[in-house]
Amino acid sequence: MRTVKKMASAATIAVFLLCCFITASTGSQADCDVYAATGSSFTVPLTHVLKDSDNLRWFQDENLIFYRRQKQVITGKNYDVDSTGSLKLTQLTKNKSGRYSPQIHRADGTSAGDLPSVRLCVLDRVQKPTVMMNCTGDKAKVSFTCNVGQNEKVKWFVDGKQVAEKGKTLMRVAKDVVNAHFSCNISNHVSSEISLPVKQDCYKPVFPETIFGISIWVLVSGGTGIVLMLILIVIIYIIKLRRKKHVRLNGEHLFVYF
Ligand SMILES: *[C@@H]1O[C@H](CO)[C@@H](O)[C@H](O)[C@H]1NC(C)=O
Ligand SMILES: *[C@@H]1O[C@H](CO)[C@@H](O)[C@H](O)[C@H]1NC(C)=O
Ligand SMILES: *[C@@H]1O[C@H](CO)[C@@H](O)[C@H](O)[C@H]1NC(C)=O
Repeated sequence: MRTVKKMASAATIAVFLLCCFITASTGSQADCDVYAATGSSFTVPLTHVLKDSDNLRWFQDENLIFYRRQKQVITGKNYDVDSTGSLKLTQLTKNKSGRYSPQIHRADGTSAGDLPSVRLCVLDRVQKPTVMMNCTGDKAKVSFTCNVGQNEKVKWFVDGKQVAEKGKTLMRVAKDVVNAHFSCNISNHVSSEISLPVKQDCYKPVFPETIFGISIWVLVSGGTGIVLMLILIVIIYIIKLRRKKHVRLNGEHLFVYF
């Protein structure tokens, strides 16, 4: 009977530990009330109106980090809380993530009851991403890859317009995106950054659309214009030449013609 009980309690403890492990590994970011960037500040509000005679405690998870008995600070620093008793967190680091909860006892030792706690998660700001362009399928296809970190969301922009895909890599038929600019925007709960735009380099059209940055159509129409003008000049010249010959043949008509 006793061994059964022991086994049962051991199993309970095992299940409990397993649960803790699962929440610790998966829930570290999902269950936050507030997100703050590394290096920034955050004040955990105290919702209770504090009296001078009150004893105030602040906990980070199970650890007592601040204790003030009436006006005497026993744990922590005087400047850890503001005049209302709210907890001031500055120069945040990731290990300051956790559940912050206050506790207040009145002078007579009675508790002020359960006060709201805050689950804070401290994250690094995202780094500016870069896009890597890569040709596949014998250069018929192009892939763009964004160097996104864990727990960061990706958005893709093609010529400034957002596309539906949300993955780390974007695939396109190279011919369809000859001059399109691809950039990725990555974000987490505290910041976002966008990459510089990148163009494909896999498919090169036979007639490039620009030469030295000038549209091929401008060049072609400009060239055509010059050719037409030359032809015109030549025609005018020939006509004049023929008229001169004519004039020389019929000297008396000279003034009629010119
Ligand atoms: C928290 O992290 C900072 C730097 O990231 C380190 O200096 C500090 O010692 C850590 N504190 C604890 C209690 O682990
Ligand atoms: C293209 O991607 C492959 C793997 O998918 C990699 O081995 C190769 O280095 C990449 N090429 C370039 C030019 O980045
Ligand atoms: C990038 O995405 C974030 C989050 O969705 C957004 O707040 C931000 O404005 C975007 N930046 C640009 C330049 O589009």
